[in-house]
Amino acid sequence: MLQQFGAGVAIAGCGSATPDTSMSNEAMSRLVDTSDEWIASRTGIQNRRLARPDESLCTLAAQAGQRALAMAGIAAADLDLILLATSTPDDLFGTASQVQADLGATQAVAFDLTAACSGFVFGMVTAAQFIRTGTYRNVLLIGADVLSRWVDWSDRRTCVLFGDGAGAVVMTATQEGDRLLGFELRSDGSQNHYLNLAYTPQEKPLVDDITIGQGSFHPITMNGQEVYRFAVKRVPEVIEKALFRANVSIEQVDWLLLHQANQRILDAVADRLQLPAAKVISNMANHGNTSAASIPLALDEAVRQGKIQPGDVIASAGFGAGLTWGAAIFRWGR
Ligand code: ACO
Repeated sequence: MLQQFGAGVAIAGCGSATPDTSMSNEAMSRLVDTSDEWIASRTGIQNRRLARPDESLCTLAAQAGQRALAMAGIAAADLDLILLATSTPDDLFGTASQVQADLGATQAVAFDLTAACSGFVFGMVTAAQFIRTGTYRNVLLIGADVLSRWVDWSDRRTCVLFGDGAGAVVMTATQEGDRLLGFELRSDGSQNHYLNLAYTPQEKPLVDDITIGQGSFHPITMNGQEVYRFAVKRVPEVIEKALFRANVSIEQVDWLLLHQANQRILDAVADRLQLPAAKVISNMANHGNTSAASIPLALDEAVRQGKIQPGDVIASAGFGAGLTWGAAIFRWGR
């Protein structure tokens, strides 16, 4: 039945979790031929958190989810849906169900959603559709990635950029206006080769003339300059489109909350949108690029620091592999 619960979406709570182990740029310079000066000046990154072998994507995701539920004041048993945005599942069949079991969310259906560093924004829009149609009332959206598993630790062009972590929001149905004000999602597979974590098959003959390809995933490869060019051009465009759909002017935006890939990308996008640096949320100095986790992780830190207040308008955008990119304009809080 349509709009059984009410068509509005509220973002009712957030949470995050990161591994305890921290790796500084100085430590990085003992692993590969790099320096704190190079990394900090080109990217803004100083530290990143890395998961130990006994830490899983599931534990980080469940911890972030639990904290978001606590802030929202919603019991796990009252969740209808858990969406796990990730590119680094513990199990290729999906990790969301394990998170559901760990949380004790017995009534919820759970599934993974893969859109690399755009995963959280794509997930927020996906969750909103279930709420707006009245299908589900309480949704837990988690963005989590453990990219340290898939980085080539001998490639200084990529290994310095990434970190591990998880962030989550609880999205609920409300009768009091829709807080997801506008969005725009895009993909362009023709540029897929700029950023990959690709499966490489090896020929494996079975019987007769039957041969299959059984191989493994190749660590992350990236054309940094092309990804940079793509981000600074496409991200402002997609934010402007989402703002237009939301009928929100740039002056009404309280916070710019971008995927935390590179400080220079954040600065360039803010510049193009004519947003002052004081409105740009940035925590990549401490976390590096945590892929699908980066937006909710930065959101959670800013909310808990008292920076983001209920009612604030947030322009968020994710961008990354696929290539995928997208923006969501939302109002924080119930
Ligand atoms: N330390 C020291 N030197 C390095 C390092 C390093 N860690 N990495 C590269 N270099 C060297 C290169 O070898 C090159 O040297 P050379 O001229 O002797 O060959 C030189 O630095 C310049 O290399 P560029 O690749 O041209 O460096 P650039 O200024 O473009 O900076 C960077 C690289 C930081 C990756 C930049 O291109 C960038 O930010 N791109 C966007 C990438 C990004 O954000 N990706 C993630 C988004 S998508 C997602 O989140 C999955």
